[in-house]
Amino acid sequence: MEKKILIIHGPNLNMLGKREPEIYGTETLDTINKKCQELAKELELEVSIHQFNSETEIIEKIQVAEENYDGIIINPAAYSHTSLAIRDALTVCSIPKIEVHLSNIHARETFRQKTLTTAACNAQISGLKGNSYLMALRAIISL
Ligand code: DQA
Repeated sequence: MEKKILIIHGPNLNMLGKREPEIYGTETLDTINKKCQELAKELELEVSIHQFNSETEIIEKIQVAEENYDGIIINPAAYSHTSLAIRDALTVCSIPKIEVHLSNIHARETFRQKTLTTAACNAQISGLKGNSYLMALRAIISL
């Protein structure tokens, strides 16, 4: 049976394409999602993709993830730096989790270099723009 992977995009990622393209790239979220779907097919994975601007919705999705999916790829976006609640939800969830970022957060402002959520994930992939998600899909199989 195909493994099921949940992809969660956090706040403001619905604005990709016109949001600071020099930092986040020119691809829209739709394009990134299509590429994820294509790669998933090739890797024989089933992906379910969601974008939420609110912290509550992200937490609620993570809380039921274990029952429905085999792994999570999450870009918590700005909540990566602030949300103890998302970190706690990820900690409870025992399936493999990879955090992704489009930009290299470690080479940016100091307030982006610190994250609360990464420690609750198995790995972080950062700085490959839309390809961060594709690398995460390839990697999550190995977890
Ligand atoms: C981001 C980096 C965060 O600092 C920022 O708030 C985002 C996007 C990234 O993918 O590079 O919204 O998570």
